[in-house]
Amino acid sequence: MSAAAVSMLDASSLRGPRFAALPPLALYVHIPWCLKKCPYCDFNSHEARGDVPEDRYVDALIADLELALPSIWGRKVVSVFIGGGTPSLFSAAAIDRLLAAIRARVPSSPEAEVTLEANPGTFERAKFAGFFAAGVNRLSVGVQSFDPKHLAAIGRVHDANEARRAAEAALTIFGNVNFDLMYALPRQTVAEAEADVAAALAFSPPHLSFYHLTLEPNTLFHRYPPPLPDEETAADIEDAVHAKLGAAGYEHYETSAYSHPGRQCRHNLNYWRFGDYLGIGAGAHSKLSFADRIIRQVRCKQPKQYLEQIAAGTPVLEEGIVTRADIGFEFMLNALRLTDGVPAALFAERTGYPLALIQRELGAAEARGLIERDSTTIKPTALGQRFLNDLQQIFLKS
Ligand SMILES: C[S@@+](CC[C@H](N)C(=O)[O-])C[C@H]1O[C@@H](n2cnc3c(N)ncnc32)[C@H](O)[C@@H]1O
Ligand code: SF4
Repeated sequence: MSAAAVSMLDASSLRGPRFAALPPLALYVHIPWCLKKCPYCDFNSHEARGDVPEDRYVDALIADLELALPSIWGRKVVSVFIGGGTPSLFSAAAIDRLLAAIRARVPSSPEAEVTLEANPGTFERAKFAGFFAAGVNRLSVGVQSFDPKHLAAIGRVHDANEARRAAEAALTIFGNVNFDLMYALPRQTVAEAEADVAAALAFSPPHLSFYHLTLEPNTLFHRYPPPLPDEETAADIEDAVHAKLGAAGYEHYETSAYSHPGRQCRHNLNYWRFGDYLGIGAGAHSKLSFADRIIRQVRCKQPKQYLEQIAAGTPVLEEGIVTRADIGFEFMLNALRLTDGVPAALFAERTGYPLALIQRELGAAEARGLIERDSTTIKPTALGQRFLNDLQQIFLKS
């Protein structure tokens, strides 16, 4: 190889990403309060003691969005997700003001998916109808379980009847609904988990998220572990849940997500396909691409500090560039969660680097039987889905 060719190679191996077109952009809005902190939850959520300062917080979100506008200039938002915490703690009037402010500042299409997370403990029919009138067109209900004993064991504020009432009203008002459910709950048997799936299926929601209850550090359950099913029972529960949902016509399209055909969550799909997202609100994360770099941001976590930082015009606590060394892992961390994987061309489209950057890692994953690939697609095998962590770790550059 000539000296000129060598130095060209060096230059190209050092350069940052190059995008033909920027990835689709989604907007995430974080509401950091809940009625009560659940003992298993490590989300940025804080027990609302007394009144939540919703007007001040909506003002702060609008200011946050305005401060961020230069970083998304001219771009259209494909979906909005108001998550938490418990966004359904807020009044319909507050959500209406928030969504109107977003529409006035960021272009989006009338068909854009707009999801709001709701806890059955905050259910009021008029309020849910008000969220719909405000422009929310998809409701994600935190049901967790339909079994009163398990709801009590995981410290939920609502009982099974409230969960049912909220689920029913959500389907009547929104139609486009997700239920969050968890399995491998304290002392749960396979038969009880199956009964929970059957209870959810009776509503036939277009989307279901089924999460394996995990003991997260910094939670009460981590400090005082409840009697969880052993590994073998948990695996049997998981198999039973998958089988029942599959038989009912749900597509298991992502590690924890099931939907009727064509009813996948567009907002979450954008994360898994390594799209961009602007996150506003306390502790929200962003990933934004520019012509020559990809950045990540995290906003102040504590609601009080966030409100102060907004007043000072500096809500972003940390910001960094995603490096060439990290990009393969970051892309695969998301893409390999998808049952059907991703088109091979998506890597270059969404990272701005050629697929050759991770050729060695792809070869290693294939040799271990964890992925399948051809010239058009990269997807995890059944073994890769089962050992997803090990598969993702292959793409970590030391
Ligand atoms: C932000 S919450 C959803 C809305 C609302 N806060 C609620 O809980 O009703 C997101 C979901 O993550 C899941 N989740 C939270 N902590 C979990 C854990 N430790 N293990 C498994 N799933 C968890 C729950 O299913 C929860 O509904
Ligand atoms: S699970 Fe939901 S309601 Fe419970 S603390 Fe976490 S965010 Fe709040």
